[in-house]
Amino acid sequence: MSLENMEGKCLRPETKDVNGVLMTKFISDNWDTIWSFQARPDDLLIATYAKAGTTWMQEIVDMIQNGGDLLQCQRANTYDRHPFIEWMLPPPLKSGLDLANTMPSPRTLKTHLPAQMLPPSFWKENCKIIYVARNAKDCLVSYFHFSRMNKMVPDPGTWEEYIEAFKAGQVLWGSWYDHVQGWWDRKNRHRILYVFYEDLKEDPKREIQKILQFLEKDITEEVLNKIVYHTSFDVMKHNPMANYTTLPASIMDHSISPFMRKGMPGDWKNHFTVAQSEAFDKDYQRKMAGSTLTFRTEI
Ligand code: A3P
Repeated sequence: MSLENMEGKCLRPETKDVNGVLMTKFISDNWDTIWSFQARPDDLLIATYAKAGTTWMQEIVDMIQNGGDLLQCQRANTYDRHPFIEWMLPPPLKSGLDLANTMPSPRTLKTHLPAQMLPPSFWKENCKIIYVARNAKDCLVSYFHFSRMNKMVPDPGTWEEYIEAFKAGQVLWGSWYDHVQGWWDRKNRHRILYVFYEDLKEDPKREIQKILQFLEKDITEEVLNKIVYHTSFDVMKHNPMANYTTLPASIMDHSISPFMRKGMPGDWKNHFTVAQSEAFDKDYQRKMAGSTLTFRTEI
């Protein structure tokens, strides 16, 4: 059974920790299978904290891999083109691992796992990894609205409750602070390209050139311009193979909040009160103290 056939059957999932990180119960109950996932040396992994720009990077990478062939990139939904390795659903629904294991090489895979929980075969096989990081406040805002509209993740509660849950790492895939730092700390020891959402928004062409270099791909200026255009927010917003609108409203209800919502840095200013922002920043300084990792919260 596919997700598209789930009309009226979706319920908010139960949650259960794996090594202190909040996951759905389906992920937690199948953790051993996920942990023993066999990566292949030519796998490319797109790793992100939730709502950091995963879908955007998936579209960029797919366009690059297909030499800018639009029709080819519209062959399937984002989640069917790139298996989401830890995403477990109750049978008969297909999990990310089922899809990955039957996919021919070279595969492009997706994960939201923190670095310390990545199945060890990825490190052993020295796979290339693109990590996308986005500033905490915009991630929080995006995750809050996503959790309102997507019934496959826990209910976010009120805005005030959600800020506290995010700060405490009590959201799926755990602490944003640990996630961005864990991948940052590993980036010089492995083949990891660390990309910032804000940089991608500021100058997509420059950042796509970095991705091309990392993937050892060469394309013409014309194809590069085509990729920049096709992966812009306004175009992706109307691409049904990338905007999650093919799922039934009982799973993702875009009338509550569209998946392609604002697509810009700085929207947090429309959500945080001055007091909430100050308290968030104070807590942030404490959690990120000593880190060389810095973010822009607007461009
Ligand atoms: P907002 O909710 O702030 O709009 P993910 O794919 O990791 O779930 O991230 C989704 C976020 O990335 C959403 O943020 C979405 O709008 C944004 N996004 C998706 N495609 C984008 C694009 N082409 N340009 C800018 N932002 C994009």
